[in-house]
Order: sequence, then C-alpha cells, then structure tokens
Amino acid sequence: MGSLLEVRNLTIDYATRGSESFRAVDDLSFHVEAGEVVGLMGESGCGKSSIALALLGLLPRKTAKISGSVFLAGRELLGMNEKELQKLRGSEISLIFQEPEIALSPMMRVGEQIAEVIHAHRRWNWKRCRSEAAQLLERVGLEPAVRIFDSYPHQLSGGQRQRIVLAQAISCKPALLVADEPTASLDVESQNEFISLLRNLRNETGLSILLISHSPALQARLADRLLVIRNGQIIESGSFERLFENPAHDYTRLMLRRKKWPANTTSGHTDLEFEEQFTR
Ligand SMILES: Nc1ncnc2c1ncn2[C@@H]1O[C@H](COP(=O)(O)OP(=O)(O)OP(=O)(O)O)[C@@H](O)[C@H]1O
Ligand SMILES: [Mg+2]
Repeated sequence: MGSLLEVRNLTIDYATRGSESFRAVDDLSFHVEAGEVVGLMGESGCGKSSIALALLGLLPRKTAKISGSVFLAGRELLGMNEKELQKLRGSEISLIFQEPEIALSPMMRVGEQIAEVIHAHRRWNWKRCRSEAAQLLERVGLEPAVRIFDSYPHQLSGGQRQRIVLAQAISCKPALLVADEPTASLDVESQNEFISLLRNLRNETGLSILLISHSPALQARLADRLLVIRNGQIIESGSFERLFENPAHDYTRLMLRRKKWPANTTSGHTDLEFEEQFTR
C-alpha cells in the first residue's frame, strides 16, 4: 500500500503585479505515512502555509498556479472540483491554523459549531450531532462539556478556542490533520497542553499530522520526521535528533538551536532541562 499522503513535484507560482510570477514552492516532494507526524520547518516566507493550503485545495485559483501531484490515500487532489474537495475536507483531511478566531463564528455557541461540521458530513439528525459534539469536547479536554458547549467563542480562553477548532477538525475522523503553527497564538502553558493533546490523539487514534511550526520544542516533542524548507525547497530531512546533532546545513543548525532553549544548553544532550524537553 502507498503512503497516506504523497506529494510529488509540487510547485506553486503566485501571480504578481508585473508579468513575472513568484515561485513560492519549488518542485517539492514528500510523503506522510499513516500514523506519522511529519514536521515542516523553515524561515518565514519559505512556503509552508502555501503547501498546507495547496493540500486542501484552498489556494486562490486565479492567482496561484499549481503543478505536480498530491495523492491522499491514492486519490489525486489537485484538479478536483470544489464539490469533491468539500467532501474530503474534514472527513479525510483537516486544517487548523494559528488563529482559532478565524475558524470560529463569534455569533454561535461553540458546541453547535462542532455539531454543524458533523452535520455537514454525516447523515445524522441534529440531536445525534450535538451529542457527538459534546463527546468531542471531552475528547479534547474541555470540561465541563455542558458549560463549554453553550459558550460563545469570546467566553473562552485562546487555548480553549484552539481546542474547539481541533474538535471540529477531528470530528469526522480525518486520516490527516494539517496543523499550521497551531500553538503560535497560545501562552506557554496552553502550548504545552495542546502539544500533549495532539500527542495523545496521535497515539490513541493513529491520526497522521503534518505539523508546521517554527518551534524546535514543539517539533522535538511531536514530529517523527522533519522536513527543512528553504525558498520553497526541501533542503534536508530526518529525525529531530539527527538534524539537531548533525545538520547538513547551517540554516538547519541555526533554526533548531535558536530560541527558547535554556542558555546553558549549547552542548546539547548533557543538560537536564534539555533532556526533559526531548523525552517523548
Ligand atoms: N496569495 C498570495 N499571493 C502572492 N504571494 C503569496 C500569496 N501567499 C503567499 N505568498 C508569498 O509566497 C511566499 C510563501 O508564503 P507562505 O505564506 O507560504 O510562507 P510561510 O512559510 O508560511 O511563512 P510564515 O512562517 O511567515 O507563515 C511568501 O513570499 C509570500 O509573500
Ligand atoms: Mg505560514
């Protein structure tokens, strides 16, 4: 059997004001196996979100020219029409972004927003969709579910809102979750909780995750394999540990070693605090 996700020679050119287009993603190929967490890392503007959007068929058709192939469970996504894509989104592949506010309606109770996603994909009555939504709230650690269910987004914390979005994203049991900087808007404590939640979900349900994040700490804790992206191309790949210990590029070394590590961890695995960060 092939990979769950197989991306081949993906190239994305954005139209610009002038006659020349801008190549944001350049002949990129990778795969994600069932149950695997693959991390995408790279500097701002290197093309990560463009890749994520392309996988869900969400790039603007007028201004983004895409070539290559994206196979999800053997089916080619590029070239699918909007109706086919809508069926797939949520049920086979889901996306969560940095800002949960963008995904949520401010005017609707959050439990009902989850129930709506289920209703759109399943032939269940509203009562059953609501009850499934309540169970999902517990699944993502939001309790008491009854109080949360009836809340509006503004009545919840940022971390709680991101959990609501995650509950929506996994509500129809997709095989692949694309998470684009999912913890970037959260405080450190909420970030840690969210990482644990994703890990548990992967371990318990076999969910595959394409994890886009700048944070070495997040990638170290979640990703089985990392792809390092620069100027729309993969420049190297491997486990976090391998890339950390023995990077082929300075770009990778600087990215993995910078920020958020305690100041005395330059020697790597000898530091206790550092060890803790890496223990899965
Ligand atoms: N709709 C668009 N039209 C034109 N250019 C775009 C569009 N979207 C992105 N770009 C350009 O493509 C490049 C890649 O952008 P992208 O958002 O994929 O980067 P990124 O790696 O996700 O960055 P960040 O880490 O800051 O989120 C950037 O130079 C960006 O300006
Ligand atoms: Mg981005």
